[in-house]
Amino acid sequence: MPSVFVELGSSSYSIDIAWQGLGGLGERLQKMSFNPTALVVTNPLINRHYGHTVLQSLQAAGFRTVIAEIPAGEEIKTLRTAMGLYDRAVELGLDRRSPIFALGGGVVGDITGFIAATYMRGIPFIQLPTTLLAQVDSSVGGKVAVNHPQGKNLIGAFYQPKLVLIDPATLETLPVREWLSGLAEVIKYGVIRDESLFDLLSGTELAALRQDKASLMKIIQKSCAIKAEVVAADEKETGLRMILNFGHTIGHAIESAGAYTKYTHGEAVAIGMAGAAKLAWRIGWCGERVCNAIEKTILRYGLPVRFSGLDTSLVEGRLYHDKKKEGDKIRWVLPKGIGTVDMTTDVPGSAVRAVLAELAG
Ligand SMILES: NC(=O)c1ccc[n+]([C@@H]2O[C@H](COP(=O)([O-])OP(=O)(O)OC[C@H]3O[C@@H](n4cnc5c(N)ncnc54)[C@H](O)[C@@H]3O)[C@@H](O)[C@H]2O)c1
Ligand SMILES: [Zn+2]
Repeated sequence: MPSVFVELGSSSYSIDIAWQGLGGLGERLQKMSFNPTALVVTNPLINRHYGHTVLQSLQAAGFRTVIAEIPAGEEIKTLRTAMGLYDRAVELGLDRRSPIFALGGGVVGDITGFIAATYMRGIPFIQLPTTLLAQVDSSVGGKVAVNHPQGKNLIGAFYQPKLVLIDPATLETLPVREWLSGLAEVIKYGVIRDESLFDLLSGTELAALRQDKASLMKIIQKSCAIKAEVVAADEKETGLRMILNFGHTIGHAIESAGAYTKYTHGEAVAIGMAGAAKLAWRIGWCGERVCNAIEKTILRYGLPVRFSGLDTSLVEGRLYHDKKKEGDKIRWVLPKGIGTVDMTTDVPGSAVRAVLAELAG
């Protein structure tokens, strides 16, 4: 079974990637010395698809297991939902060695991780990601959070899981729009760190990938390996980890200007990556070939490289409100080639404006 190790000293953990791996969960935990009361957090749809497999596997391994459902959707990632889960944890008598499992996408993962980090000052947390985005991005790296009315992920912590178990077979039920969300992040990894991953993506397409277990396993493994390496080097995001924001600077501005309804996160990041490449070209960091290759690969998956119906000056305004800025300067992550990015705060406003105008064109 392929696995990736996240090297973080005493907080190190393994990311196991196994087709139909959810059925082997209980057995995988045997050597981890947890207490036998377990709480699984999920949503009704995911529970219907995969809850039974997880429950059976945990019960067969001797865990007294309870499944707690929370509704689907970003809007439930709140302290109020968290409170309901704390209530369940108290009722069940979870203690500091009782594991809590996140079975679902990034929403379930982030809120469950937040509970794990805070209930009794921290209990063992296991990620069972079921969206491509969660499998390649949100389940790895230990960022856990809930939203505040004034901003996404404003209340959170760094809290690493004890194990991430990825079962790519769960993607068989994932809607296309959710696949694209994850694929935008996978394209990101290719551009920032791995030309062979980028080439693999450039040579296939979504329909083929959904049929091709081997390639799918490979892109998940390569993505996790990149995230693991970056997180191991910079767990708390003071330096290198910021390269994971490639495409997200313009992306967040577009998401926000579109009131989080016009573009999905993946679509906005796709446009943001095309924009970052154009900016790199303008300031002489890369050639036109790099810009074209990035755009071509994004378009191959039906993701956008331009925005429409948004006022460019509104997008520009949101850009300068992004929390990743440094003083009043934005910290840009820009490509120098496929597989290599660097960071700079030294990009003229005029170049940014010109690129936004091109993206709106
Ligand atoms: N912690 C991090 O490092 C990090 C990184 C990126 C994003 N995030 C967070 O992740 C969240 C987005 O995650 P997401 O894109 O996974 O969205 P999501 O969790 O909302 O899941 C998307 C939809 O897919 C459904 N779904 C999940 N698995 C399925 C399956 N196997 N089959 C069918 N349907 C399935 C869900 O019910 C949901 O409706 C955001 O809250 C974002 O802030 C966190
Ligand atoms: Zn993202």
